Amino acid sequence: MSQLFPPAVVEPVELADAAGMVCIRTAGASDVENLSVYFTGLSATSRNKRFSGARADPGVVAAECIARSGGLDNFTLLAELRAEGRGTIIGEALYAYDATVRHGEFAISVADAFQRKGLGLQMLTAMETRAIDLGHEMIAAETARANAEMRGLAKKAGFNDTGLGDWQSVHLAKRLSR
Ligand SMILES: CC(C)(COP(=O)(O)OP(=O)(O)OC[C@H]1O[C@@H](n2cnc3c(N)ncnc32)[C@H](O)[C@@H]1OP(=O)(O)O)[C@@H](O)C(=O)NCCC(=O)NCCS
Repeated sequence: MSQLFPPAVVEPVELADAAGMVCIRTAGASDVENLSVYFTGLSATSRNKRFSGARADPGVVAAECIARSGGLDNFTLLAELRAEGRGTIIGEALYAYDATVRHGEFAISVADAFQRKGLGLQMLTAMETRAIDLGHEMIAAETARANAEMRGLAKKAGFNDTGLGDWQSVHLAKRLSR
């Protein structure tokens, strides 16, 4: 791929109906503005699901995501559609390791127009690979019981319901292995 762009963490993929290659890469300080644009462009439904209904300023959230991914055990992955020398963010996944409970937690979203094309699973797989490289043994996420997309994605990726959720939320976890 062009050297104009930061390196991808997995082989670039072609998505159905997308003009260009999609690269999954680590986010850096220069991504705050584009990530903010991405969050702003999500539908209200997707944004609500991603942020569990919490009201959030996209610019602030984007800056927090990038700042949180600065540490050794935390990172943000971006899915970037690259075409004609331009990169457009079409997905993101935030991973943070909690040393007290000894597992990584994540949150993820894919731009509405690119959902259900396999990108969420690709990002989750890339995240798991990175977490394994960091020596982490368990990965977990919490989502609304009503979030069929996330529950479906987690199931397909091999997560199980830990039973630690409540009437509104489901806690999902997966043991990582090489
Ligand atoms: C959850 C989300 C990231 C999934 O991303 P995606 O790129 O659409 O997922 P994929 O295309 O990789 O789908 C993988 C599997 O997930 C399941 N899935 C995805 N969308 C689904 C839907 N709408 N209904 C049921 N299952 C679904 C399916 O099992 C699918 O495999 P299949 O297409 O072979 O049946 C995306 O729907 C999204 O961004 N939602 C809004 C934000 C959100 O809810 N984030 C989770 C909380 S942090």
